Amino acid sequence: MAENILMELTGVGKTFKQADGAPRVILDSVNFALRDGEIVTLLGKSGCGKSTLLRIMAGLAAADQGSAVYRGTRISGPASGVAMVFQSFALFPWLTVQQNVELGLEAQGVPPAERAHRAGAMLERIGLAGCGGTLPRELSGGMRQRVGIARALVTNPDVLLMDEAFSALDVLTAETLRNDILELWDSGRIPTRGMLVVSHNIAEAVMMADRIVILSSDPGRISHDIAVRLPRPRNPDSQEVRALADQVYRLMTLR
Ligand SMILES: Nc1ncnc2c1ncn2[C@@H]1O[C@H](COP(=O)(O)OP(=O)(O)O)[C@@H](O)[C@H]1O
Ligand SMILES: [Mg+2]
Repeated sequence: MAENILMELTGVGKTFKQADGAPRVILDSVNFALRDGEIVTLLGKSGCGKSTLLRIMAGLAAADQGSAVYRGTRISGPASGVAMVFQSFALFPWLTVQQNVELGLEAQGVPPAERAHRAGAMLERIGLAGCGGTLPRELSGGMRQRVGIARALVTNPDVLLMDEAFSALDVLTAETLRNDILELWDSGRIPTRGMLVVSHNIAEAVMMADRIVILSSDPGRISHDIAVRLPRPRNPDSQEVRALADQVYRLMTLR
C-alpha cells in the first residue's frame, strides 16, 4: 500500500435485504483511497449508499465483499484513530455537553483529569466556552452539532468522517460551522490527516473539497473523481467555484 494512503477500500460491496426479503445491492465494487492531507467530499443522491460506505470505513458495519483498510490494517471495528460526526448529532440527552465530549476519551482510557481538561479546551476551540455544564436540549441545533464535532475532534482523530454533518442546520449556521472546521484544518490546529465529508450538497462540496467523489445510485459505484485545485478559503461567487459547481451538477444529473 502506498505510503500516503490513510484508508483504502478495494472492491467493496454491500447488499441489504429489502422489506419483501429480496436482496438489493447497495454498494458494488467500490474502490476508494483517502490520502494523507486531503479533504474528500463524497456526493450522491439520497439513498445511494453514502452512509453505508462511511459506516464501513468507521468500522460500524462490515462489507460483504472486498476489503477496507486503515493504515495497513483491515478494519474490523471502530479504530481509535478514526472519528465520525453524525447528521443526527447522536448526543446523549441525559449527559451534559462536557460529559458528551469526554465520552470518546473515556473509551480510549484517558484518565478523568486529562479528560476534563481536553474536553474543556476543545469546547473552547469549537466556540462553546462556558457550555460544558448544559444539557444538549438547552442548545440550538448549530451548537449541538458543535458538541458532536468537539466529541470527534477531542480524540485527536487521524481520520475524520463526517456524515452530512451540516445538513440538519440552517444555511447560515451550516456555513459558519463549515468555515470553522476548514479554518482549524487549514491552519493545522488539529492533527487530523484526512477528512471524508459525505454530503448531498454541491455547494458545500465545492467550498471544502480537495477532491470530489460522486457515488452513483442503484448500485452505488464511484462514477467520478474530480481533483479540485482551488485555494481555500474559496469565494462561492467566484467564476472558478461556479464553474466547478456546474460541472458537478452536470455529472450528477447525467443519465
Ligand atoms: N441496515 C439496513 N438494512 C436494510 N437496508 C438498509 C440498511 N441500511 C441502509 N439500507 C438501505 O440502503 C440504501 C442506502 O442507504 P444509505 O447508505 O443510508 O444511503 P445515503 O446515506 O446515501 O442516503 C437505502 O435504500 C437504505 O434504505
Ligand atoms: Mg446518509
